Amino acid sequence: MEYKAYYVEENDGVFSSSIKELEIPEPNDGELLVSVSYSSLNYKDALCAKGVKGVAAFYPFVPGIDAVGTVAKSKSDEFKEGDKVICSGYKLGMNVNGGFGSCICVPSDWVVPLPTSMSDFEAMSYGVAGLTSAACIKSILDKGVVETLPMAVSGVTGGVGSVAAGILTKIGFSVTAITGKSSEEAFLKQIGCEQILNRDEFLEGGVRPLDKTAFGGGVDTVGGDILAKILSQTAQKGSVACCGNVAGASFQSSVFPFILRGISLLGIDSAESSIELKKYLWEMLAGEWKLDLSEQTKTIQLNELDSEIDKILDGLQIGRVVIKHGD
Ligand SMILES: NC(=O)c1ccc[n+]([C@@H]2O[C@H](COP(=O)([O-])OP(=O)(O)OC[C@H]3O[C@@H](n4cnc5c(N)ncnc54)[C@H](OP(=O)(O)O)[C@@H]3O)[C@@H](O)[C@H]2O)c1
Repeated sequence: MEYKAYYVEENDGVFSSSIKELEIPEPNDGELLVSVSYSSLNYKDALCAKGVKGVAAFYPFVPGIDAVGTVAKSKSDEFKEGDKVICSGYKLGMNVNGGFGSCICVPSDWVVPLPTSMSDFEAMSYGVAGLTSAACIKSILDKGVVETLPMAVSGVTGGVGSVAAGILTKIGFSVTAITGKSSEEAFLKQIGCEQILNRDEFLEGGVRPLDKTAFGGGVDTVGGDILAKILSQTAQKGSVACCGNVAGASFQSSVFPFILRGISLLGIDSAESSIELKKYLWEMLAGEWKLDLSEQTKTIQLNELDSEIDKILDGLQIGRVVIKHGD
């Protein structure tokens, strides 16, 4: 028996992709075979599809760091055939063929039950991006933010940023969007952003060790100078979550935001979060923090992935892209 997958191959250092029929794997003890209904496109998947080092452990490979579907075969006591499950992170789409195939074979301790109030489509309209937003928000709320000031969200038209802005708005914060796409004002207002700062204007004047306070906390999805500037403008005892590097992997700051304002910089690695935390976050996304992402989610088939991958790498994606398997 075979399944369909977006397959990335390397020949003499050149990476190419095609849609292939692959043999359905047989689960080992402790594993599940999941028939995947939807996956989603995340920045890491785009890097994997292009052969960027540090994502896939080997090629040929099927990317896709998240998937939702139905257990087709179980070799675990935890789940049975027919159970609806979500799998994200750990080594899915890194060294285990991922959700860009209509089947995945994964250890049962990588999956969580699909919350009862969430559809397969809704789960992947969040995907890893939504889970990461939820992890960022939980971490800043747990550590503490200044509720009377706006929350900064960078990379806000992207997957992680747009969901973070939506959740923060839903739970009562005023959100300041930091974006390279000020032309997307209608979208940014629709997801709840009250203030929109153009990325270049935000960075004008450079980054000072400490600046006038503007934010009670924030979710930074881009890194680089933008993260440094958010830190310099965060108020006493605020917290900033850091999860991405599209604007740069390094940044120059000073100790002053930390030692004179007591602010916290919180690192997020949603892929390797404990399965208990993932379960909790998925329940929050299905309940108290639930958003209707249908308007900001594009649904595509495997054969439409190439152009969407180029778009996410060019920083041009808006909202979320979900991949539907089957017809
Ligand atoms: N740590 C984790 O657990 C984790 C999990 C998931 C994702 N991530 C990381 O989080 C980041 C965002 O992921 P995503 O899925 O949301 O990607 P995405 O959908 O491509 O969004 C990234 C957004 O960043 C902004 N941007 C793009 N290029 C930029 C540049 N050169 N300088 C400044 N801003 C730029 C753009 O938004 P605007 O035009 O609105 O500025 C873009 O839409 C990536 O680095 C990804 O690897 C980390």
